[in-house]
Amino acid sequence: MIITFATQKGGTGKTTLAIAFANYISAISDRKINVFDFDYQKSFYHKWKEDEVLDVPKLYDVECIDEEQPFADFETLINLKDSNEINLFDLAGTLDAKYSDLLIYSDFIVIPFEYSDVSAKSTLVFVNMLGLLESEAERIFIRSKYDKGYKYLNQEGMDAEITKYGILLKSPVFKRNCLQTIDTRKLTYEQKYAVKKSFGELIEHINETLEITI
Ligand SMILES: Nc1ncnc2c1ncn2[C@@H]1O[C@H](COP(=O)(O)OP(=O)(O)OP(=O)(O)O)[C@@H](O)[C@H]1O
Ligand SMILES: [Mg+2]
Repeated sequence: MIITFATQKGGTGKTTLAIAFANYISAISDRKINVFDFDYQKSFYHKWKEDEVLDVPKLYDVECIDEEQPFADFETLINLKDSNEINLFDLAGTLDAKYSDLLIYSDFIVIPFEYSDVSAKSTLVFVNMLGLLESEAERIFIRSKYDKGYKYLNQEGMDAEITKYGILLKSPVFKRNCLQTIDTRKLTYEQKYAVKKSFGELIEHINETLEITI
């Protein structure tokens, strides 16, 4: 299966959530996890490399995708999709034609978003683009860096709009300092607690949709 973390807006928490999800899944699933860093900044990959100094075994491998037309043979993509392994992709916060095939054939696109005006607009532009691509992927929206004490004025309208295009996870991932220091080898108790509810919902949804147990 292919699970892609993407949206058009930079800095919404794609990489943080992708790392947290990869670590989280490693602890609960027997399936092999493969991570593909498709961002030219290679944040996931660099982090994973840096973490080699930690005296903790790696949970998964991270591969960089540098090519302009990575799925030109197409079969690679279909093999990843048909595989029982969990293939996670982390994308850059910019749209690029090289992402098209992946966005079309992912099983799930996890879209972290915030309620700021810019983020809301970018999120809607992104889902419109997925529509234009006729992407088969199921869109799963996740409120990211959510501030508990803040009253988001556009939340209701934005939620209504978003749910036209996909699933909105009920539980947000709150703004938490512990998530800023995440590494690719483990989740601390605090980090696990920070993502547990949202990821629980996400996994339940994946399992139901694909009729599997992750
Ligand atoms: N839940 C959270 N609570 C607090 N800080 C967070 C949270 N999620 C992400 N951050 C911080 O926000 C910043 C951007 O996060 P991240 O790099 O994951 O976003 P991104 O969407 O991958 O960005 P880019 O578009 O540049 O790839 C980082 O400094 C990260 O530590
Ligand atoms: Mg990133």
